[in-house]
This record gives sequence, structure tokens and C-alpha cells, in this order.
Amino acid sequence: MNYVTDDTMNAYLRTVQPMYDGVLGEIQREALAAEVPIIPLETARLLSVLLTMHKPKQILEIGTAVGFSAGLMCRYLPEDGTVTTIDRFEVMLKDARVNIKRMGLENKIKILEGDAADILPTLEGPYDVIFLDAAKGQYGNFLPHCLRLLPVGGLLIVDDVLQGGTIAQTRFSVPRRQRTIHKRLRNFLWEITHNDALETSIIPIGDGMALCYKKKEIPLEGEQKDDE
Ligand SMILES: C[S@@+](CC[C@H](N)C(=O)[O-])C[C@H]1O[C@@H](n2cnc3c(N)ncnc32)[C@H](O)[C@@H]1O
Repeated sequence: MNYVTDDTMNAYLRTVQPMYDGVLGEIQREALAAEVPIIPLETARLLSVLLTMHKPKQILEIGTAVGFSAGLMCRYLPEDGTVTTIDRFEVMLKDARVNIKRMGLENKIKILEGDAADILPTLEGPYDVIFLDAAKGQYGNFLPHCLRLLPVGGLLIVDDVLQGGTIAQTRFSVPRRQRTIHKRLRNFLWEITHNDALETSIIPIGDGMALCYKKKEIPLEGEQKDDE
């Protein structure tokens, strides 16, 4: 995994902030040791603060992996809240199911198995928080669905938006194989920062996190705005 901040800063942030406790902490340690691409500790801590403040009841996650972030987000739900999480990779989902059972969260976490590109159009929502942490090249395609599924006052949290810091370089100075993703991520960042229904901030933490607060309803394509 690539990080935007340097190794010294990462090591410091991981010393000063504790790992999670209980079974969630065990899953976090196991995943990091096995190099499963879960969110790093500093990103997880930011997620914890955001969810404590936002108090969501329904959360949608795109990118389950082994269930670490889904388990983490459950800590901030009320009794009747749920996390719905999507992944297409059976190898990960096999471990996610085991981990969800270990955490005793079978009734809180609902897994939807398949490609988010196929599943998102079938969802009705609303979800108070959407955590997007999947294939970066598809973020632009997922965005209209995420915005449709968020109510006004909802929060879209997007991980891995800065391509290990190379997003700040010109497209031609990144290796050729990374250029398509570079271009798509830049377009995605432009869209979320120029949408007047969103209040957006891009934070250089982990591999970059974008926070998008939905301030008002977004007209569907072809729908007339009031002032037109
Ligand atoms: C970075 S990992 C998610 C880590 C997890 N959120 C955590 O922190 O514990 C990304 C996951 O997204 C899944 N993924 C990527 N693209 C996807 C897609 N189009 N549809 C469904 N899942 C996808 C991958 O299989 C992988 O398990």
C-alpha cells in the first residue's frame, strides 16, 4: 500500500494512536501482518471520529475485504443500525464471513456479493454514510449512485484518492501503467470538488481520503433545476 505521508510520520502516527481493542484489534493485526489492504490505523482513527460525530444509522460500504472496516463502523451504530457491505472477491469474503462471526456481528453486517457496478443500481438506500474503498479506477462510475443513495445531510467518505501522492505529479511523470487511474482519479476529484451540492475536503492521510457532505438534493440527469 502507498501512503501520502512519509515513513517517519506514519510510524509516529501509529505509535501515538492505539490499535483497536478486542476481536476487532485481533482482525486488524492479522490483516496488517498478512498484507491485506485494510485501511491504515490513522485512517481508521479518522473514520472513528467522523462516525462518532455523524451518528449514522445505515451505512453502505463498497469494499469489504476481510471485514475490518465494516466491524469498526458497527461500533458507532445505534442498536437498530446496520452496515451493508459490497465485495466481489470470494477469497476476501470467505475471511470476512468468519471475521464477522468472530465479532458477533452477523445481525449488523449484511454482505452483498458481486461487482459494485452491478449491485449499486439495485440499491434504494438511503444510507447516512457511504464508505467507498474499492477499485479507484471505478470511483467516477460509482459516484452518481453514491450521490443518489445519500440523503441530504449524508456523508460520502472515499479512501485512496491520492495514488500514493503521485496524483500531484503531471500525468506523464507517473509510470505509463498508472496513467489511466491517474486521469480517472483526477477527474473524480474534480467532480466532487466542483459539485455545488457537496461540501468536499481532500485530506492527505493514508493514501488520501475525500470527505463529501451532501448539502442539497442533486437534480437527476435531464431534470430541470428550479432556476432554469
Ligand atoms: C482496500 S480493500 C477494502 C478494505 C476494507 N474497506 C477495510 O479497510 O477493511 C478493497 C476491496 O474492494 C473490493 N473491490 C474492488 N473493486 C470492487 C468492485 N468493483 N466491486 C466490488 N468490490 C470491489 C476488493 O475485492 C477488495 O476486497
